[in-house]
Amino acid sequence: MSGKLLRVEALNCYFFGLRAVADLSFEVKTGEIKAVIGPNGAGKSTLFNMIAGVTRPTSGTIWLDDERIDGMPTHQRAERGIARTFQNLQIFREMTVLENVMVGRHLRGKAGVLSALLHGPTLRADERALADAAMAQLERFDLAGKAHMLAGSLSFGQMKVLELARALAGEPRLLLLDEPAAGLPQAEAEHVGEIISSLNRDGMTVLLVEHNMRMVMSLSHDILVLNNGMRIAEGTADEVRRHPDVLSAYLGESEDA
Ligand SMILES: Nc1ncnc2c1ncn2[C@@H]1O[C@H](COP(=O)(O)OP(=O)(O)OP(=O)(O)O)[C@@H](O)[C@H]1O
Ligand SMILES: [Mg+2]
Repeated sequence: MSGKLLRVEALNCYFFGLRAVADLSFEVKTGEIKAVIGPNGAGKSTLFNMIAGVTRPTSGTIWLDDERIDGMPTHQRAERGIARTFQNLQIFREMTVLENVMVGRHLRGKAGVLSALLHGPTLRADERALADAAMAQLERFDLAGKAHMLAGSLSFGQMKVLELARALAGEPRLLLLDEPAAGLPQAEAEHVGEIISSLNRDGMTVLLVEHNMRMVMSLSHDILVLNNGMRIAEGTADEVRRHPDVLSAYLGESEDA
C-alpha cells in the first residue's frame, strides 16, 4: 500500500484538435478529499470521464492502487472500487428510489441485483439481502421513507443525494463527485457538504469537482486547479487562494462573462 490511491501520469485528451486535458499528472492520497477546480471548460469533467473509463485518454496512464486501469472498461474500474456521480444528474426517474440504489450495487458487479429488479416482489434470499443493503444506504441519507416512490418524484436536492447514495451502494474506494452541489441552494449544498465530510471521516477517498468555493475551501485537504486543461496550481486552500495564476484564471473568466 503506497498511500496513493490514484495516480495520473502525463494525461492528455484531445477532441478533434482541441486540447481538453494537457500533460496532467497528480495523485490522490488514500483517505483525502482532493478538489479539482477551474473555470468552465477547464477539463474537469473530461478528467473524471477518463478516470471512470468513459473517455479514452489520447495518451498518459492512470493507476489505481498501483494497478494500471486506463485500458479497462468502465465496469472493471467500478469493480475495482471507482464510483462517480455526474455533473448532469443521471438517475433513473421511472424506477423507484430503492431500485436506483440497487442498480449502483449491480454496477459494482454484485450478483443477484438484476434478477431482484426483474422478479419484483418475490425476492430470493440473496436478492432480499441486496434490497436490505440498499435500504440501509437510504436510511443513512434520510431517504428510506421514499424508498418505494418513483425517483422522478423527488425534489432536485433529494435526487442529488440519491445519486450519491447510488454511487456508494457498490462500496467504492474512490468516489468521484462532479459538482454535487450544482443547482442547490446554499443550505442544501451545506447538507451535501456534511455528507461528503462524514463519508470522508469514515475513510472514503474523494475527488471533488465543484464550483461552490465555500464547499471546496472548507472540505478539501488538497486542491488542484486546472485552466485550459493544464495544472496551474496545486496545494492547500490557502496556497491556492493566493496563487496569482489562479486569481487571473478566475478574473479572466469573469471579464469574459
Ligand atoms: N465529447 C466531447 N467532444 C468534444 N469536445 C469536448 C467533449 N467533452 C468536452 N469537450 C470540450 O473539452 C473542454 C473541457 O470540457 P469539460 O467538460 O471537461 O470542462 P469542465 O472543466 O468540466 O467545465 P464545466 O465547469 O463547465 O463543467 C471544453 O472545451 C469542452 O467543450
Ligand atoms: Mg464539468
